[in-house]
Amino acid sequence: MPLDVVTGAFSYTGRHIAEALLERGRRVRTLTRQPHPGHPLADLVETAPLRFDERLVESLRGADILYNTYWVRFERGPVTFARAVANSAALFRAAREAGVRRVVHVSVSNPREDSPLPYFRGKAQVERVLRESGLSHAIVRPTLVFGPDDLLVNNIAWILRRFPVFLVPGDGSYEVQPVSVRDTARVCVEAGAREDNPMIDAAGPDRLTFEELVRLIARAVGSKARIVHGPPRAALALTGAAGLCLRDVVLTRDEVSGLMASLLVSASPALGRDRFDEWLRAHADELGRRYVSELQRNFRRPA
Ligand SMILES: NC(=O)c1ccc[n+]([C@@H]2O[C@H](COP(=O)([O-])OP(=O)(O)OC[C@H]3O[C@@H](n4cnc5c(N)ncnc54)[C@H](OP(=O)(O)O)[C@@H]3O)[C@@H](O)[C@H]2O)c1
Repeated sequence: MPLDVVTGAFSYTGRHIAEALLERGRRVRTLTRQPHPGHPLADLVETAPLRFDERLVESLRGADILYNTYWVRFERGPVTFARAVANSAALFRAAREAGVRRVVHVSVSNPREDSPLPYFRGKAQVERVLRESGLSHAIVRPTLVFGPDDLLVNNIAWILRRFPVFLVPGDGSYEVQPVSVRDTARVCVEAGAREDNPMIDAAGPDRLTFEELVRLIARAVGSKARIVHGPPRAALALTGAAGLCLRDVVLTRDEVSGLMASLLVSASPALGRDRFDEWLRAHADELGRRYVSELQRNFRRPA
């Protein structure tokens, strides 16, 4: 049975890629910062450390395809985008040395090396490193990924459930094209089966303004919150204050800029099939019941 390596199979997108591979009869090894004994996949996948050092080659040896989801959402302390680019480059070098046949790399929609936003700039730099690596590869660029364990949609729902007012930055007319995590995983696994070196957007069938997205979520969770508009700095001040109480970074300035620049959409035909509003209706009961903390999930753990 062929073995694939997935970074982050106990986390969000990586989990769904790992499940899709297991369903197709592949063996899976995950690279992760921490074993996760209680996780549903814990007994189904091999585990190796996600450490960007000399152990990486051994962790990748024997793998047919590497599915890479590794990235950081924002900079904090020693975690920087420059470091994440260097780590990604180390991962690809190690894959080559270990004899991995192909890499499927999860990027983001609309990355650009001259982007003013370090997240999107770093993603474009990593794509270039992979293109120039000589490895057979596919680059998958998701828009805004929704699904169980999602953070952004869940936390919008959490705010809508608890507060009387939701402040949309700017006029709310900028667009998003949510794609389900299940569709994203399928696109990745299909990209793994190809022989060419494509760049593929993973985007869902619905293109919505941000305001429409918020209103759909509000309706799904039965929120009575007033949806109002305000300058981005007001939204950042509010989420900053909430972040102090929650001990999290709720939203960054760059994320607001990326949203308002409509970067989370695709110009290609949509490959995602799951409808956002249907998913919302099916998951309305659990959505936004508890806040999901990025710092808790991804920063207060071994680096
Ligand atoms: N979520 C979205 O809406 C979205 C949209 C567009 C593109 N993407 C891209 O899709 C990929 C997967 O995103 P995701 O949301 O599914 O991420 P995730 O599961 O939270 O994390 C993916 C991987 O990165 C590692 N990681 C995350 N934060 C880290 C940190 N601060 N320091 C060190 N390692 C860290 C995780 O390590 P562990 O295995 O130890 O957890 C995991 O292996 C990323 O490349 C992201 O840029 C996501």
